[in-house]
Amino acid sequence: MSADDRFFRLITTNTMSRRPTRRFTDGGNIPFVGALHHKTRSSPLLSVGLVVVGAFLIIGYLYSGSGGSSSDKEIVSKLEGGVSCTLEVHKSLPILKKAYGDSMHKVLHVGPDTCSVVSKLLKEEDTEAWGVEPYDLDEADSNCKSLVRKGIVRLADIKFPLPYRAKSFSLVIVSEALDYLSPKYLNRTLPELARVSAEGFVVFSGYPGQRRAKVVEISKFGRPAKLRSSSWWIRYFVQTSLEENEAAAKKFEQAATKRSYKPACQVFHLKSYH
Ligand SMILES: *[C@@H]1O[C@H](CO)[C@@H](O)[C@H](O)[C@H]1NC(C)=O
Repeated sequence: MSADDRFFRLITTNTMSRRPTRRFTDGGNIPFVGALHHKTRSSPLLSVGLVVVGAFLIIGYLYSGSGGSSSDKEIVSKLEGGVSCTLEVHKSLPILKKAYGDSMHKVLHVGPDTCSVVSKLLKEEDTEAWGVEPYDLDEADSNCKSLVRKGIVRLADIKFPLPYRAKSFSLVIVSEALDYLSPKYLNRTLPELARVSAEGFVVFSGYPGQRRAKVVEISKFGRPAKLRSSSWWIRYFVQTSLEENEAAAKKFEQAATKRSYKPACQVFHLKSYH
């Protein structure tokens, strides 16, 4: 089994295990039915009517419960057909190594499922790796929990300053997470990525119109992903005084062409602040 398969399995099982929680909130209907029934005991006709309404609610509840399994199938098929920019980081690690060489010795990854990226990087020789998970770690596996216990992976809201000193990492890689930020927060977060990196940072973001592998859970991300065009991003980088890391971009492109690898996400190479 390749690492990419493992990664897919990880997100698939995470999505599956999330279901009971959602069902629990659906169950909120039940006490409501009981309360209605209780109050109207005085009028027999009304209470018959309410029993019928109650029955409909219960049927509706059961129906939505069974509907859950078909939406799981949907989730799985979306995972198979869509794009995850964190998965693209996995796929492009050999190419990033060609482009960044020694700058890959101390890496911070920021984005969903960061444990999978950090674990993979830690297997490489001469590579230290850390991760910031912007969303949640509730369903983290034991390997991920152990990374969190060791302080290697942190849960942090990236709308606020990152919990690291300036130039703590040689390279920072961020995937997917910026797609969920509004321009106002991007204005704060992009400079933070430049601040904590010493030799550059790389942004993986979705193409407009792209289907996401990760089912967009608005409750988790706060807002739906906004997939922006490359010209939008470039204008934004210019606005925040960030410069393209042309040398790294060129090497990345060359290495990608050599391996016939075409990233499924937009990849931007940016310079750190000096
Ligand atoms: C972001 O910062 C730039 C440069 O300071 C500014 O021109 C722009 O209006 C800001 N955008 C938002 C949404 O705050």
